[in-house]
Amino acid sequence: MPEGERVDPRALVRPGWPIELEIGPGRGGFLFERLAAVPELCMLGFEIRRKWATIVDNKLAAAGLGQRARVFYEDARIALLRLPDGSLSRIYIHFPDPWWKKRHEKRLVVSPWLMPQVVRTLAPNGELFVQTDVEDRANEYQEAIDTAPGLVAAPGGPRLAENPFQARSPREHRAIKDGLPIHRLLYRKT
Ligand SMILES: C[S@@+](CC[C@H](N)C(=O)[O-])C[C@H]1O[C@@H](n2cnc3c(N)ncnc32)[C@H](O)[C@@H]1O
Repeated sequence: MPEGERVDPRALVRPGWPIELEIGPGRGGFLFERLAAVPELCMLGFEIRRKWATIVDNKLAAAGLGQRARVFYEDARIALLRLPDGSLSRIYIHFPDPWWKKRHEKRLVVSPWLMPQVVRTLAPNGELFVQTDVEDRANEYQEAIDTAPGLVAAPGGPRLAENPFQARSPREHRAIKDGLPIHRLLYRKT
């Protein structure tokens, strides 16, 4: 992202439309599907793997979507600190944290530490959507989010059977093909 203590997302994409953020878009399939599903919407991605951040950002530009979406080579845990309060309408975290060793715990994206920044950067009524195919992780995420002040579960509870956003991440497509259960959590900023 551009340098500076604060970076306004409206200066990065077409101003005037809601801006959603995907943390860890990987190969970027969700961004393309979501932009196709909702025409008046902008998106940002923070991806810690430089190669995929660059490839997906270039592909968005080549598809004529460079004004609506950008992917930056960033650690979301740091980059989020630089976004202004209330600047995002939704944050997606699809299938994060594929590490299991104790010594890798510090890499976890969905954590009690991240939640205050999620709450701060979401607009009022903004949403956080998290999905994973690992049940233990879903339970840990739910605990971390349930204890975060400022977020409430969607009506009917945080667990959703389906993804309501008319777009799926690459890992989600694969999990569906492989018949794996997907645990989905949806929260709203109060
Ligand atoms: C298991 S992959 C899932 C990719 C994609 N979300 C999907 O569902 O297909 C997790 C992604 O999160 C990215 N990632 C992990 N930690 C991150 C961080 N701190 N900031 C940004 N991206 C991160 C990884 O590089 C990877 O692309």
